[in-house]
Parts: sequence; structure tokens; C-alpha cells
Amino acid sequence: MSRNAMVVHPHHRDNSLTAYLARVAEKRLLSEGYEVDFLDLAAEGFDPAMTEADQPDWGNRDKRYSDTVMAHQERLLAVDKVVVVFPVYWFSMPALLKGWIDRVWNYGFSYGRSVPRLGNLSVLFVALAGAQEDVGTDVDFIRSSLDLGVRRGIGEFNGLKETVLHLVANSEGADVEDREGHYARIEEGVTEAVADFAR
Ligand SMILES: Cc1cc2nc3c(=O)[nH]c(=O)nc-3n(C[C@H](O)[C@H](O)[C@H](O)COP(=O)(O)O)c2cc1C
Repeated sequence: MSRNAMVVHPHHRDNSLTAYLARVAEKRLLSEGYEVDFLDLAAEGFDPAMTEADQPDWGNRDKRYSDTVMAHQERLLAVDKVVVVFPVYWFSMPALLKGWIDRVWNYGFSYGRSVPRLGNLSVLFVALAGAQEDVGTDVDFIRSSLDLGVRRGIGEFNGLKETVLHLVANSEGADVEDREGHYARIEEGVTEAVADFAR
């Protein structure tokens, strides 16, 4: 049986750490035998701003959304694992990713039905935060914020099979002497998280 996964890459720069780790995730999924749909939101020109066509109609859960959104929904239905790699912006996610969730994970599609249509979907969120583990409590606050806003607010709300968070701290490598070692450990951690998730 073929296994299908998607990697979501919501970064505007292709040479970012986010982009690099999204490719690491893709490589790992391929080596676990998955076919991978690599969704580069910026390269595909996805517009995160909500439109009238994609605004939920609370009286009609079968509303036909825009062609763009319908196409993204089909892509989601075709996979059983999604890995989303994103930089933490303001304790949350960047607008490009938020807008993809706002428009695509829509009423009547991912929520608003008695049987969730994404009930067989597992999602791993890999979040890169500039905050340092040993400086203050920001990393703990970011973890709590993502636990509420992402795991509870998106994963549980949409009835997903599983939602996993992997938080990478100090993504800017601040105050690190051995930068190569620091980034090698980050890559190793992401590879392991994806391997565990892919099983
Ligand atoms: C608009 C903006 C908001 C940010 N907000 C946070 C934040 O709330 N917490 C944090 O730890 N880092 C924050 N950062 C730092 C980013 O998480 C960090 O630069 C990123 O993970 C680096 O990955 P990249 O090279 O792929 O962009 C922010 C960066 C930007 C540009």
C-alpha cells in the first residue's frame, strides 16, 4: 500500500533554516517509503488573505469554496501524514501559514461534520523559535502557546487522528560557539521526530 504525506513549507526564503528542515523532513519521509507532496506556499503564490469566496457560510457546510481552496483540500485528502515546518512569529505562526489554515481548513471540510473528514490525518508541527532554552522562560511560554493554539485549536478542533509538536529552540544560534554542532543537533532532532511520526 502506498503511503502519502505532505510537507508544508510556509517560508518566503528558500535558503532559510525552515526551508532546509522542510527538505530534511521530506527526505526522511521518502526514506520511510512515503510519496511526498511538497507544498511550498510562497513559491506556489498562495494568498493568505481571507476572501469572500472562502468565508464560511454557517448555514451551508457544503459551500463550494474557491478553486484554489478546493484544490488544496483535495491535496490534503490525498495524504495521511502532514509535516508542517514553520518559524515561530509572535509565539504563533507566520501569516502565510495562518492564512492557509484559515482558508483551506474550512467549515464543512475539516470541521463542522459529525465525522471529521481529516479523522485519519496525523500532523507533525515542527516550530523553529529564536528563543533560547536557558534564557528566561520564553521557550516554555511558546510551547504553551503552540499547545493551545496549534495542538488544541487546530489539531483537536478538527478531529485529527494525532497532532505532534516538535519545538526547536535557538534557531538563530545565538551565543553558540559550536554552530556546526548546534545545527547538526537541530537537524538530528527533526529527523528523529519525523522518523517517529512516520512509523
Ligand atoms: C516577525 C517575527 C516574529 C518572531 N517572533 C518570535 C517569537 O515570538 N518567539 C521566538 O522565539 N522567535 C521569534 N522570531 C524569531 C524566528 O522564530 C526565527 O528568526 C526563525 O525561527 C529563524 O528561522 P528562519 O531562518 O527559517 O527564518 C520572530 C521572527 C520574526 C521575523
